[in-house]
Parts: sequence; C-alpha cells; structure tokens
Amino acid sequence: MTLHDFAHGLPKAELHLHLEGTLEPELKFELARRNGIELAERTVDEVVATYDFTDLTSFLAVYYPAMQVLVTADDFRDLAYAYLTKAASQGVRHAELFFDPQAHTSRGVSFDTVITGYRRGIVEARRDLGISAELIMCFLRDFSAEYAMATLTDAIRYQDWIIGVGLDSDERGNPPEKFAAVFARARQAGFLLTMHCDIDQVGSIDNIRTVLTEIEVDRIDHGTNIVEDPALVDLAIEKGIGFTTCPISNSFVTDDMKATEIVDLLRRGAKVTVNSDDPAYFRGYIGDNYAALADRGELSPADLAQIARNSFEVSWISDRRRQELLTEVDAYFASHQ
Ligand code: HPA
Ligand code: ZN
Repeated sequence: MTLHDFAHGLPKAELHLHLEGTLEPELKFELARRNGIELAERTVDEVVATYDFTDLTSFLAVYYPAMQVLVTADDFRDLAYAYLTKAASQGVRHAELFFDPQAHTSRGVSFDTVITGYRRGIVEARRDLGISAELIMCFLRDFSAEYAMATLTDAIRYQDWIIGVGLDSDERGNPPEKFAAVFARARQAGFLLTMHCDIDQVGSIDNIRTVLTEIEVDRIDHGTNIVEDPALVDLAIEKGIGFTTCPISNSFVTDDMKATEIVDLLRRGAKVTVNSDDPAYFRGYIGDNYAALADRGELSPADLAQIARNSFEVSWISDRRRQELLTEVDAYFASHQ
C-alpha cells in the first residue's frame, strides 16, 4: 500500500473545515440554476481559473461572492451532505465544521435558514454514512464586535446544535482582542472556543499570545507562527492546545506549505492536526493534505497515525467516543504494518 492510500484510509477527525469553502463549481452551477441566479462563469474550468490567490485577502475576495448561490435551507443541507460524503470517503470519522452565518445574514438570508439546513445535512449524513459532525459558528472578524454579539445571541437560541465558536475572515487590522468580550460571553454561555491565527500575518505572534493567554481558547486554527516564540510553544504544549493546520491551504495563501513549522511542532509534542480548510478552493480534501504533508515533511505512517490520534484527542467529543475512535486508529495502523 502506498503512503498516499494509507493517508486516505486512516481514521481521522477534520477540525478545520469551512462549510462554505466546500462549494465545488458543479454544485455552484446546480444551486445557481435552482435559484435563478446568473453567474459570470460558464464552465468549471472558468470558475477554477479565478482561484488565483496570493494571500488570504485575495482568497476571501473570491470566496464571499460565490456564496450568493446559497439561498434556501435545502441549499445549505446539500452543501453539508456533499462535504460529509466526500470526507467519509477520505477516512473522516468525526468532523467539527465551521460556518459563517454573517456571510449570509449580511445579504438577507436568515440565521434560521442557514442552521436548519446545515443541521439537516449533518443528521442525514450520520444516518447514511455513520460519520459524526458538530457545528462551530465563526464570527467574521472584519465586521464589528456589536454584530458578532448579536450573532452570538442568535447562536444561543440554537445552542444544542452548536458546540463552539470561532473567528475567521481577514485578520489584518482585526486582532483577537477586538472580540474579547464576545468570546467571554460565549464561554459563559457554555460554548467551547477556537480562533484563527492565520499564517504570516502582521503581528501573528502577538495575536497568538493574546489568544492563548488572554482569550484562553481551547484550540488554535492554523497558528504555526507560534514557532517564532519557543516559550509560547511550551505554554501551548502544557495547556494541551490543539493546532488545526492546513498544509495545502498554506501553499495557496503564502508561498509555502509550512511543513517545516508543522513537523517541528509535531516533533516537540504539540497536538498538531492536519485539515483541509476550504477544499473546494484549494483543490485538496483531508486525505490529500495528510499525503502532501507526508511528502513534503518526510513523515512515516507512524507520524500520520500520531496526527490522526491528535485529531481525536483534541476533538470536542465524549470520552467514550474518543476511546472508540482512538481504537480505530490503532487497529488501522496495526493492520497496515
Ligand atoms: N482564514 C480566515 N478566514 C477564512 C479562512 C481561513 O483559513 N477560510 C475561510 N475563511
Ligand atoms: Zn480556516
């Protein structure tokens, strides 16, 4: 068996995945047709040709306009179900999925439409495929803290369906402390916390420090710039903080996969995980990310199995489900020796 096949079949959790970032061109055309929306591009190749990103900002400039085709609860259901089907085919046993309600409420689609559609996709995928999934609601950091607080109020109405909150979109000029009060309130309400610390931002290391020591998140999304401050790495390890890294995404929004940084953190014992971020845009799902990192970072099957174990260790699941999934990793590894 090749390392690529081993990586794809390995039981794993996906912890850094934006549902809106799974909108494949084919589904985009289908939803546009369903909703009577005229698109600028006529073919899949024309859509993919617009995926010419040099940084996070240029990615987001393509990502948000594409969402206009998502209108009804069925659309959101179909998006989640299609993603979970693909994920299950690449070994994902559990997924914690980001969604961006403000990318929809800001254009007139209700919070209720978004979440009832996504929830239905998750429930049906669990029934049909045995894959478990939870939702993490992200605030868009380039909108105001007041808008985030109002969105948190919406989330509290659906608390049974949302396990945690996160922070995404453009980090430039929008540091974590802008949302300190929102995250304090979210924690008080019982949500788990994570935040994006995007790659190579101005002030990345200061933002990572704030997120770890002031916001006191449970996980960090990306966050590999932490290697710039070894004392902070030690603190993250001591706290058992999970890092949800995304190698292929990194190679799109910077000029590097950041394999050196990811492997360095892994070797030091940080709870590094590997994920796909926005796979429809970066053209790689989670198995592809494991395989790409293994190639670039010279990882062995045992290293990949450790990353998969980490993914379940830092998942927001019951200890019973965690044990069940860790046992699956061990059995898979043992049977592929
Ligand atoms: N970073 C910030 N915002 C995002 C991302 C990301 O990785 N993906 C989708 N929105
Ligand atoms: Zn992300």
